[in-house]
Amino acid sequence: MKTTMRSIFTSLLIFLYFISFGQGLLNSHHDFTGASWSGGEACRPCHTPHNANMEVNDSPLWNHEVTSATFQVYTSNTLDATPGQPNGFSKLCLSCHDGTVAIENHGGFTGGTWYVTWGNITPDLRDDHPISFEYSSALAATDGGLYDPATTPSGLGGTIAEDLLQSGYLQCTSCHDPHISRNTQGCSGCHNVATGQTISLSLRISNAGSALCLTCHNK
Ligand code: HEC
Ligand code: HEC
Ligand code: HEC
Ligand code: HEC
Ligand code: HEC
Repeated sequence: MKTTMRSIFTSLLIFLYFISFGQGLLNSHHDFTGASWSGGEACRPCHTPHNANMEVNDSPLWNHEVTSATFQVYTSNTLDATPGQPNGFSKLCLSCHDGTVAIENHGGFTGGTWYVTWGNITPDLRDDHPISFEYSSALAATDGGLYDPATTPSGLGGTIAEDLLQSGYLQCTSCHDPHISRNTQGCSGCHNVATGQTISLSLRISNAGSALCLTCHNK
């Protein structure tokens, strides 16, 4: 009975996915349907309708093992923000992308052996764009080179704060959508076989001409 309910809910999730996101996730690097451990389900490695992992605040019905690594955070003598240990959505991403938790470890399973390779950000975040800090109007005023997130349009319909921040915080998801909703062409959406060029369509805003960076940075 529990299994039947679970598959009905999962089918519903997949159906809702197709009408809301389009065919974004499939054929991306977050599509694990071809792996036997996923049971052919696109959402299950990351989400579950019941008994979700509540370790990280506001996580969306999380089903993946959460990282317990201690991170070295970005620092510089010009930085005004104070990035803390990764929290929120960033902590969910780093639960595969810090390279310490196996990709298959979900739904209580912890015996996985497959880890991210070229997507390994590692627990040393000193060489990555700062994350997990509050990007407020006050920070923008202090910095002088940032747009006010509460009033500046993101280009996606709302303000920077509404479209790109998680409860006021800058996270991995400020720049990336793990569901790759902007890609409708499968592998070739990002990999051009003829030229060998790879682009990241998982970005919420295309970075052609540094457009993504210039959404927040007034440079
Ligand atoms: C590789 C992990 C991963 C996979 C696979 C995945 N998600 Fe997510 N999902 C996330 C993360 C991380 C968030 C929180 C960040 C965000 O909202 O983009 C999220 C957020 C969501 C949300 C809430 C916020 C929003 O964007 O509306 C929904 C609904 C959702 N996912 C549905 C799905 C469905 C349906 C599938 C399967 C077709 C799926 N996801 C597959 C990682 C994943
Ligand atoms: C269940 C594990 C898992 C989770 C959770 C996860 N990823 Fe990934 N991601 C992968 C794997 C596997 C790859 C392929 C790279 C590799 O194998 O080294 C990948 C590739 C990527 C890529 C490169 C391809 C592209 O789409 O441009 C980006 C960017 C990325 N992930 C961002 C994120 C972000 C941001 C989050 C959180 C919102 C996230 N990932 C959550 C497993 C995961
Ligand atoms: C400020 C924007 C921004 C933030 C925040 C951000 N990324 Fe990225 N990320 C990018 C851009 C832009 C690229 C594409 C780089 C390129 O193609 O040269 C990228 C590329 C990647 C890739 C592809 C492999 C690689 O190293 O190029 C992965 C994986 C990835 N990001 C994961 C993450 C994770 C996990 C987080 C949070 C810890 C994160 N990103 C936070 C902008 C961002
Ligand atoms: C959303 C964009 C996106 C999609 C869709 C995508 N990729 Fe990728 N892929 C990337 C990025 C970004 C990298 C990292 C390139 C780098 O760091 O040089 C990558 C790297 C790779 C690599 C490793 C290349 C290397 O030099 O080690 C392989 C193999 C690969 N992708 C295959 C695929 C296949 C097969 C598909 C379809 C099932 C696919 N990709 C779909 C963005 C994407
Ligand atoms: C969603 C908004 C947003 C986006 C998009 C964004 N940034 Fe940032 N970035 C910030 C904020 C906020 C800070 C913190 C600035 C501070 O506190 O001094 C920051 C910090 C930085 C820093 C460190 C500054 C220092 O003083 O050490 C650099 C460099 C940077 N960003 C470059 C980029 C680049 C390059 C891109 C595009 C790939 C980008 N950013 C995209 C908001 C953003």
